[in-house]
Amino acid sequence: MARLKKIGKWLGITVAVLLVVAGCFYGWASWKSGAMFEEAYAAHEVDFPIPFALTDEEIEALREERRAEAPEPEPPAVEASGEVPAEAPVPQAEPEPEVDPLEGVDLDALALERAQARGRHLVEARYACIECHGDDFSGGVMVDDPAIGTLLGPNLTGGNGSRVSEWTAAQWDQAVRHGILPGGRASAMPAEDYQRMSDQELSDIIVYIRSFPAVDNQTAPPSFGPLGTVLFALGEIPLSAGKVDHEAAHPELPPEVANTVEFGEHLAGVCTGCHRATFEGGPVPGGPPDWLPASNITPHEDGLAGWEYDDFVVAMREMKRPDGSALGAPMTLMERYTAKMTDTELRALWTYIQSVEPRPTGT
Ligand code: HEC
Ligand code: HEC
Repeated sequence: MARLKKIGKWLGITVAVLLVVAGCFYGWASWKSGAMFEEAYAAHEVDFPIPFALTDEEIEALREERRAEAPEPEPPAVEASGEVPAEAPVPQAEPEPEVDPLEGVDLDALALERAQARGRHLVEARYACIECHGDDFSGGVMVDDPAIGTLLGPNLTGGNGSRVSEWTAAQWDQAVRHGILPGGRASAMPAEDYQRMSDQELSDIIVYIRSFPAVDNQTAPPSFGPLGTVLFALGEIPLSAGKVDHEAAHPELPPEVANTVEFGEHLAGVCTGCHRATFEGGPVPGGPPDWLPASNITPHEDGLAGWEYDDFVVAMREMKRPDGSALGAPMTLMERYTAKMTDTELRALWTYIQSVEPRPTGT
């Protein structure tokens, strides 16, 4: 009996010590995960126009278009009889001073219209901002899970509850490509996914976002459940601000839209978050446990060796493999975007992923 009591006592002490240790650890984790958002970061300060003006080539093309549309000069009048009077001298028309066919055309309005159309395609087919910021940009959900926590995409419309209405190009750059809020505080915005975005693309996206009506909506700041607290504290879900190079220059313009490895590589930036930087796939870094591992999409025999371009198109537009089997989540989250990619975009993406080094699937 005494022996049992003794064991019971030690057991009790052990449990108490473990609880204290766990409590301390959890206390540390809560502090640490909160502190990660308090840490201040500095990044370079960029500037770019919103919107980008028309280029000289665009203006020249427009001028040519207008010239071609302008009515032909009247041919010399022919008498009803069909005879040209021999004597009557044809009055020599004064050569008209060349009128610029672009006179009266509002080039600024046209630049805005084009930027908005480009921004719309970027958001709808490629950069997926609406996945977390809501279809009308008034706010949305990135993660809402009792164990992990709640990370909401803030309202970007400029209405009440939105911070961005007066933001400069530099502030947008810091939020979107660096994961930093004004003042230097780290944000949960997944900025590492947007490292290849050029200034012009970001400018176009801002123009598109600003074309939406202002909505009043205040989203809650990030909060963590028990698992999220521990994962954040242990650095298992690192914030972008701690990962990206804050001094690296961003390209001013995206590569030319063409079936090239260069343009394909630019497009493939959004695939790397799940398929990894070298496309060998494997469990999605930081993904929830119910997500399937990402497929190997290198030309390796574990990957897309044996696929034709048409198989790739069906995968991207209909979420099916060549054997007819359906792709699962989270690839299916991509369907609403990849289905809107143009033929040239899909061709370039295919050209690029066919050119990467074949690798066995990641673990
Ligand atoms: C996977 C989800 C996700 C995607 C995709 C995403 N964002 Fe975010 N974004 C967030 C979250 C979450 C925050 C807020 C983080 C915080 O409060 O710490 C945020 C913050 C921002 C902010 C700062 C706004 C503010 O008030 O703090 C801007 C601007 C922004 N995102 C723009 C964009 C743009 C533009 C895109 C597309 C190119 C985009 N986001 C794509 C999740 C996302
Ligand atoms: C949110 C994560 C995520 C993103 C982003 C993503 N994928 Fe996937 N992808 C997956 C997952 C997971 C699978 C495996 C689905 C399955 O097994 O059913 C997959 C499967 C595929 C397949 C099918 C290959 C096969 O045989 O299983 C192709 C092709 C593919 N992805 C291409 C792309 C391309 C190209 C991009 C970028 C435009 C992209 N994915 C972006 C997660 C993602």
